[in-house]
Amino acid sequence: MVKIAASVLNADFSKWQEWLPKLEEAKVDRIQWDIMDNKYVPNNGVDKKWLAELRNHTKIFFESHHMVKKPEEQVTEFAEMGSNMFIFHIETTSEPLKLIEKIEEHGMKVGIAVNNQTPVEKIFPYLDKVDLALVMTVEAGFGGQSFVEKNLEKVKALRKKIDSEKLDCKIEVDGGIDAKTGALCVASGVDVLVSGSGIFKHPKGIAEAVKELHKS
Ligand code: DX5
Repeated sequence: MVKIAASVLNADFSKWQEWLPKLEEAKVDRIQWDIMDNKYVPNNGVDKKWLAELRNHTKIFFESHHMVKKPEEQVTEFAEMGSNMFIFHIETTSEPLKLIEKIEEHGMKVGIAVNNQTPVEKIFPYLDKVDLALVMTVEAGFGGQSFVEKNLEKVKALRKKIDSEKLDCKIEVDGGIDAKTGALCVASGVDVLVSGSGIFKHPKGIAEAVKELHKS
């Protein structure tokens, strides 16, 4: 069954004590924290203080998605706050191997992300060194955008490469994911679906949203 990561980018943190138990009851597999610097993307993202706070209240796997110009400067802090996986964008570093090594030295899993306009081949050289490849299915920076279907070609190319080389790298997509677009992604070979609006703005609530996504 496909794994589900709930993006809390646009969650109402004044109500976290309501929705965190609901995410747990719905058996969401991960929580994704969108970290932004208003430089690489024109947005400030989620306040990292909530990652540190919620870490004390749940065992759910935390993946921090760093849409920032200097991800290497955030590794130590996010490891100490309790991120389990550090996802960086290939567009934001000239030394990916050094960054991968630093993330691993801090005891976190490694994810490498490719933005909407970036060719997926850019991350091929690193697939045997990371735990996850994240294909953005929108332009990074904001929740609630529409799914950009052309990125499914990147997923299919990744699936082919990972399978042909028997690599242990999971494929994740993020942006405009709901039951309908999620099904397209799973059919293309995705292992993890990230959804924010598709979960928090679902008319039938979190439990039904996660259930539908798990069935994608
Ligand atoms: C974009 C963000 C969003 C967020 C989920 O930078 O990464 O993709 O996680 O947004 P939704 O699911 O609302 O499109």
